[in-house]
Amino acid sequence: MSIVITGATGDVGSKVVEHLLLQGIRPRVFVRNAAKARSLFGERVDIFAGDLTDASSLRPALEGARALFLLYSGPRIPVLDAAATEVAGAAGIRHIVKLSSIDVEQNLAIGAWHEKGEAAIRTSGIPFTFVRPTGFMSNLLAWAPSIRREGMIRSSAGDGRRAFIHSADIAAVVARVLATSGYLGESLSITGPEALTFAEAATKIGEAIGRPVKFQTIGDEEAGERFAATGAPIEEVAAHVALWRGIREGRLGMVTDTVERVLGRKPVRLDQWAQENAAAFC
Ligand SMILES: NC(=O)c1ccc[n+]([C@@H]2O[C@H](COP(=O)([O-])OP(=O)(O)OC[C@H]3O[C@@H](n4cnc5c(N)ncnc54)[C@H](OP(=O)(O)O)[C@@H]3O)[C@@H](O)[C@H]2O)c1
Repeated sequence: MSIVITGATGDVGSKVVEHLLLQGIRPRVFVRNAAKARSLFGERVDIFAGDLTDASSLRPALEGARALFLLYSGPRIPVLDAAATEVAGAAGIRHIVKLSSIDVEQNLAIGAWHEKGEAAIRTSGIPFTFVRPTGFMSNLLAWAPSIRREGMIRSSAGDGRRAFIHSADIAAVVARVLATSGYLGESLSITGPEALTFAEAATKIGEAIGRPVKFQTIGDEEAGERFAATGAPIEEVAAHVALWRGIREGRLGMVTDTVERVLGRKPVRLDQWAQENAAAFC
């Protein structure tokens, strides 16, 4: 029976699809843009067009399927997770795997949105697995312009630590959970192998590109202004400032062995990610 992948045109979801294909599983992808999905996956997947903001559009993809990988971003996570779960229940889905966040453990910022989404799934009675990653290594790409321009990362995260995780490791864990129908009722908090300060992360990027990258601490207000200047909505800005404060206060530096427990290998180190992405910083 089929597995339905949402977020399939994004970073984690596209890698989940590739993992399933490698295991001989042909997934259904639920996407807003069918042409984008076709260009990514060709004829190797079944494409269902729709939009999570209209949960009823999910129904055709879910009919006769066994499992749903649910991924959505932003302040509407609680509402959209609840709506998708209701449709999944009516369609007889037997396993929801939700991409959540380790920040749920602190009920902090974006983690608070995911906590409400998890609650809706938990109370539905549908067997679930919550995959809760820490901060993605790919977040560091947001600093590519200032690294290229001035060799500098600025953040209000201060000396706080984060065990950044590679999206390939997240996708590998998700695919393992989906393919095995295992880990029912579990919340898998997954991290990279080492908790790094942003200054240490800057040093590693500097080593990968062959020139030093400095780190400068800024205040919450400046961090919020800089993020708002990218066009982010006000709720997203507030959530990110709270997130960086949480890191600064040492609340989000946890390291777990869950990737190794699930995959039987160590998670990828930031050094490798920086090598893979060096061109973005040059
Ligand atoms: N970044 C972090 O440090 C971090 C840490 C913990 C948890 N997370 C969680 O990870 C998730 C983001 O994963 P990601 O980085 O893989 O996402 P991403 O690369 O930004 O991709 C988002 C995906 O969702 C799809 N999408 C967006 N709105 C949709 C809608 N209304 N209906 C259907 N599909 C829609 C996008 O489709 P289009 O191609 O059409 O846009 C895309 O495929 C979020 O839930 C976030 O909270 C992130």
